[in-house]
Amino acid sequence: MDNKFPDNFLWGAASSANQSEGGYKEGGKGLTLTDVFPNASSGRFEAMQHFDEALNKKFDYCPSHIATDFYHRYEEDIKLLNEMGVKVYRTSINWARIYPKGNEKIPNQEGLSFYRKVFETCHEYGIEPVITLNHFDTPLYLYEKYGGWSDRKLVDYFVRYAKTVMSEYKELVKYWLPFNEINMVAHIPLVGGLVNVHGKENPAQLIYDAAHNQLLANALTVKAAREINSAFRVGSMLAAGKYYANTCAPEDVLTGIYKDWMDYLFTDVQVFGKYPFYIKRYFKENKVTLNISKEDEEILMNNTVDFVALSYYSSRVVSGDTGNKDFGSGNVAKTLRNPYLETTSWGWQIDPIGLRIVLNELYDRYEKPLFVVENGLGATDELLDDDRVEDDYRIRFHQQHIAQMREAIEDGVEVIGYTPWGTIDLVSASTGEMSKRYGFIYVDLDNDGHGSYRRIKKKSFDWYKNVIRTNGKEL
Ligand code: BG6
Repeated sequence: MDNKFPDNFLWGAASSANQSEGGYKEGGKGLTLTDVFPNASSGRFEAMQHFDEALNKKFDYCPSHIATDFYHRYEEDIKLLNEMGVKVYRTSINWARIYPKGNEKIPNQEGLSFYRKVFETCHEYGIEPVITLNHFDTPLYLYEKYGGWSDRKLVDYFVRYAKTVMSEYKELVKYWLPFNEINMVAHIPLVGGLVNVHGKENPAQLIYDAAHNQLLANALTVKAAREINSAFRVGSMLAAGKYYANTCAPEDVLTGIYKDWMDYLFTDVQVFGKYPFYIKRYFKENKVTLNISKEDEEILMNNTVDFVALSYYSSRVVSGDTGNKDFGSGNVAKTLRNPYLETTSWGWQIDPIGLRIVLNELYDRYEKPLFVVENGLGATDELLDDDRVEDDYRIRFHQQHIAQMREAIEDGVEVIGYTPWGTIDLVSASTGEMSKRYGFIYVDLDNDGHGSYRRIKKKSFDWYKNVIRTNGKEL
């Protein structure tokens, strides 16, 4: 097949601070949400549901405390990424390393120098960092003091943090993503916005206050980015995944459209600079008052993003019939089972063509360059005696998705890059497991934090290296 990837296509790798760094109290870092989540067997899911109780509990082991120890091993990791040939490395800055409580006036120098070393190391190895500013790790103090993102004060604190790091690293980082999967605040408000809706009278109000504050913070970050360095490129980041109608019954089709819109709402505001028409009815019917001023409207309109980034793991299926309970699973968003798709060991439905559909739909809607900054297969790997991991299933997953991305490019969609998720194994965000592995590089660590932390190349390592070397010609 002809090579249809552009010459400057950004092949890369992706991770987040809270799932890989560890060093949770080192270098003056404050606590964040994930630092109080235990691992799967100690009740991570319950802790997410009953957060206030979890805060007062002392768990024996919270995976983010050491994670995969990137904090101490970043040089080795970046070197391995370079060996694989990656051009960009998407990771995040942990806000609480820079402002431990989130709202101090003076940044923590140790935190700033840590990321300086990381980004300089990336450049030494010819890798361009792509940096998320908030990947599920708002400082915990901002929950205790303000109840998280529903409080408008967080806008100012976030923008102060964003300005600090964008100024500090203005020669080192060009691509910025203010919020990871910004639509997550609507699906899992605690993780996405540090908002605890448990037992609250009107959760929707809290959620859309938080959403508005994040959208405003996003726009103000874009504004600051333009002032700091005109070469910066700032992107929105959506947890994408098309909602298919369960049948061709008009009720199912209509439900699918509305479900998509509830996610597109976020990117619509980030790209078009205003709230879309369809959200008004939802707000009215759910007793949500949008607290938006004239000044907010101007800020949103004048500071839209340069590109649209997305994560893609799966498509979803919905029905207009609320009695249909034939559920499957996917990345957080609820879905019915799709009988045409295989699933991962964690039940996520595998749909490579869905990626092509999503890319076409997003490009049709926004006409902005698209950047696939997360895609991958969470699977159990077996480390064989001679340090081999034969992960052909993972190779197949990426082969099929990259092939569909190539089709989308052939369709005319502008896709600028692809950073597979968890390129070096990391802690699962939803379950806290290590055994749910995404990487091309194995990390010797189990679900309870035992292991040597050794990095071992899997079979997929050489496969992806060749994909990059041939610019996607050989899959
Ligand atoms: C995305 C998140 O939603 O999904 C990542 O941005 C996360 O942080 C990824 O790791 C995969 O989910 P999980 O639960 O398998 O880790």
